[in-house]
Amino acid sequence: MARRRDIGGEDIPKAKITKESLKEALIIFKYLRPYRGTFVAGLVFITLSSGTIMAYPYLMKLLVDSAHGTAKEPFAFSPDTIALMLLGVLAVQMVFSFLRIYLFTYVGENAVADMREDIYKRMITMPMNFFAQRRVGELSSRITADVSQIQDAITGMLAEFLRGILTLVIGIGFIAWISIKMTAMMLAVVPVIVIVALVFGKFIRKMSRKAQDQLAESNTVVQETLQGISNVKAFSNEWYEVSRYHLNVRSLVDLSIRNGRFRGLFVSFMIASVFGAIVLVAWYGVGLMQQNLLSYGDLIAFVVYTVFVGGTMAGFAETFSQLQKTIGATQRVRELLREDVEDVTIEKSELLPEFKLQGNVSLQHVGFSYPSRKEINVIKDLTLNARSGQQIAIVGPSGAGKSTIVSLLLRYYEPDKGKILFDGKDASNIPLSQLRKQMALVPQDILLFGGTIFENIAYGQPDATEAQVIDAAKKANAHEFINRFPEGYKTVVGERGVKLSGGQRQRIAIARAILKDPVILLLDEATSSLDSESEALVQDALQNLMKNRTSFVIAHRLSTIRSADQILVLEDGYIKESGTHQELISIEDGLYRSMNKLQMFEE
Ligand SMILES: Nc1ncnc2c1ncn2[C@@H]1O[C@H](COP(=O)(O)OP(=O)(O)OP(=O)(O)O)[C@@H](O)[C@H]1O
Ligand SMILES: [Mg+2]
Repeated sequence: MARRRDIGGEDIPKAKITKESLKEALIIFKYLRPYRGTFVAGLVFITLSSGTIMAYPYLMKLLVDSAHGTAKEPFAFSPDTIALMLLGVLAVQMVFSFLRIYLFTYVGENAVADMREDIYKRMITMPMNFFAQRRVGELSSRITADVSQIQDAITGMLAEFLRGILTLVIGIGFIAWISIKMTAMMLAVVPVIVIVALVFGKFIRKMSRKAQDQLAESNTVVQETLQGISNVKAFSNEWYEVSRYHLNVRSLVDLSIRNGRFRGLFVSFMIASVFGAIVLVAWYGVGLMQQNLLSYGDLIAFVVYTVFVGGTMAGFAETFSQLQKTIGATQRVRELLREDVEDVTIEKSELLPEFKLQGNVSLQHVGFSYPSRKEINVIKDLTLNARSGQQIAIVGPSGAGKSTIVSLLLRYYEPDKGKILFDGKDASNIPLSQLRKQMALVPQDILLFGGTIFENIAYGQPDATEAQVIDAAKKANAHEFINRFPEGYKTVVGERGVKLSGGQRQRIAIARAILKDPVILLLDEATSSLDSESEALVQDALQNLMKNRTSFVIAHRLSTIRSADQILVLEDGYIKESGTHQELISIEDGLYRSMNKLQMFEE
């Protein structure tokens, strides 16, 4: 029967149909519940529309028979009456079909939107570790492909199934009524053809999936090389990529041609057997007609019903494979809905007075390893105390765990050992959203959202006025370059907009943090992409910004942190040295002292 629209769900795994997996799939009904009235009405209309369409071949038979005068009482209507009845059936059918599609669409779209929103809410509140272990593409396909598959089940599969059952029962009933003998013969032939077609079809689908994979593979070459085009060119490797692509594309050709042979066989087999079956039925029917056991109309109705029944049988197999896919999709969606989320609020919320922080931060014997790499202790034993308003600098070699400390402060992850205290209160006693509201981060790798510069700065405080945004930009030394763009603050940045330089992005991120006006400021290499002159200017702004708030500053360039209240030198998961610049610089063979010396030469 009608093929379902392609939803790009080829990669959705088919699940075994078991009692458990079916039970899992019942989640669909949770989302249908708000629309159950409409849904049931849709089911009624599909029953009615399938029922009425089944009357069509029978009325055609009556029409033909009325011409030959072979119609039997009480069906001996005049041709005009029958034609009118046929038109009546078609009219009713029109209404039913329209209503069924309309109602199912209404239910399907709404239920699926609810489900998508639920999944998105869930996803966005997942802890960091959840994202560290999954690819973005995989997650977003949960919300697109999997949900679409489920939507299809709601709007298509159930309807198809119901229609199929009705068609089979009514269809076989009718032909049995017309002629038991012919029905027996038909039932001996049609299912065999259907089964052969299914097995063959499955084989062909498997082959074409291989071809699709091959196509995807060749596409990867194109994507990778276009994304990294400057690498290709810098290494003068055009020839290499061309030959790689050539191999891929050629093996796709081989595969596809092989597929073509089988498809050709399949199609010719199908044409021969479908028409062969019709010939067989017709031939047998004509024989019966000669014995006056069958009328012209009977024969026509019989052939049409046979086509209906055969098509439905084939459709069932398709429905079954769709059902498996839907169950696969619901399992993946459920898996996601079952994951633990962070305790963050999705509703817009204000800072509550009882959670207002002073900015005293203390880490006590904190130990930490990333959940995805348990065996490596990134932070082994770390103790630090930052009083409100202090500036704490963290320095140390690359990979020492500096950014990790920032992640811990933001509570992206929980420490394995030790405690983190804010104003003497255990961090876990402060709701995440309340805590993070009072922090601002200028991260090491800055990602701007695909909106305007204005929106990107205002991200830290969406209600900010234009004056506030501009003021923040000025403080971050960003106002000038923003104004140089023809569209100024309305300039669209991000993937489809203007590409900003690393230093420009950094200044936008700093403006964002300034606007947020946090109690605790986290700067992870916030000025690393700036030239000395801009850095000096931004440094000035940052120095102002850091007044009256606790700030953690990670910096490679030690000249920028000289005035810090405490400098912590991190190495191997421990704090190796700590103190002010003056204190650290006077340690003979000190780590800080030698780092400083090295950088002196650079400058
Ligand atoms: N999400 C993660 N999962 C597992 N390991 C991680 C993760 N993030 C960082 N690491 C590892 O933890 C260690 C510390 O990383 P971190 O980013 O804190 O270093 P860093 O001091 O900020 O270095 P850099 O100066 O280069 O930014 C590194 O060995 C890194 O490989
Ligand atoms: Mg880092």
